[in-house]
Amino acid sequence: MCIPLLTQSDSSSLKRRKRGKFDLWISLCLLGIWAAPAQAQNLESGEQLYRTLCARCHGMLGEGGEGPSLKRAQLLHAPDDDSLVSVIVGGIPGTGMPGSRQLRGGDGVDVAAYVRSLGQLPPETMPGDPNAGERIYRNEGNCASCHILDGEGTGIGPELSQVGQRRNLAYLRRALTDPAAEQPRLVDRYRGSLNAFLTVRIVSEYGSFEGMRVNEDAFSVQMRDLAGTIYSFDKADLISYEKALGHSLMPGYAATLSTQQVDDVVSYLMSLR
Ligand code: HEC
Ligand code: HEC
Repeated sequence: MCIPLLTQSDSSSLKRRKRGKFDLWISLCLLGIWAAPAQAQNLESGEQLYRTLCARCHGMLGEGGEGPSLKRAQLLHAPDDDSLVSVIVGGIPGTGMPGSRQLRGGDGVDVAAYVRSLGQLPPETMPGDPNAGERIYRNEGNCASCHILDGEGTGIGPELSQVGQRRNLAYLRRALTDPAAEQPRLVDRYRGSLNAFLTVRIVSEYGSFEGMRVNEDAFSVQMRDLAGTIYSFDKADLISYEKALGHSLMPGYAATLSTQQVDDVVSYLMSLR
């Protein structure tokens, strides 16, 4: 692999760097006279690229949001720098983490270096007691009636086994107190993990149904109701079909749990990694 050696002063203009310097090192690489050091990287350009490509999901300061907080020294999918670059460029298939294939040359390495620098920031602190939170999860919250955690429970909601790895404190609190806040409001223009949880309401000659959309194409739609039963409908036969945007099948817990209990459950969720 050939990586450009850049110093801080090169970052003044990303464009200039991309043309002049980039061409130069490509030719040097081709000539085989440059043995590039693997650590060569440019934090400033990495930060700029991060803000454009990553901040909307991982937060301006790496605090997380739709994506996990990156203020962690250990990353599950990226134990070393090479795997971090492949996660950044190629994404994590089957999850809400898209690749940034437009990154060229050393850009992926620069972003990786910036992500590692975020990892040196102190991690988020828990607002409450995770052990108390676990008891609430099992009892008052009855969360296992909709979520699978370490193989236990039923699964109309997303699996929560590693949710603390995927989401940050603010997101988890919102998911618990105002579940609809994270729901898609625009059909299919919002591509990503969230569209997986679209609530649909269907009226057919057999009655009214509400549940989670499992699959849909031009002619049919499949949904699963809260009891876990999966139904399939031919769209042509339906009396009405509504995509309940901004609606969640999960009850909000702001009214049923105290502030302390919400903090405890959020702490428990943060501990799930
Ligand atoms: C559309 C939202 C989105 C964008 C944009 C995005 N990510 Fe992610 N990212 C996610 C989600 C969601 C996950 C968690 C995937 C999972 O494990 O389920 C993730 C996971 C990761 C991980 C793995 C964390 C770990 O602990 O293993 C890294 C590293 C990462 N993202 C870095 C980046 C960088 C750097 C960028 C920009 C180049 C970026 N992401 C852009 C949503 C996003
Ligand atoms: C009636 C079913 C139901 C119950 C009960 C329920 N949830 Fe959910 N939960 C869902 C669904 C469905 C989603 C998917 C997103 C949405 O629709 O809001 C979800 C999403 C979530 C998320 C977001 C996960 C992510 O990765 O985005 C978290 C966290 C969560 N639930 C935690 C809990 C906790 C903790 C409890 C108990 C205090 C609980 N849920 C009880 C159905 C439920």
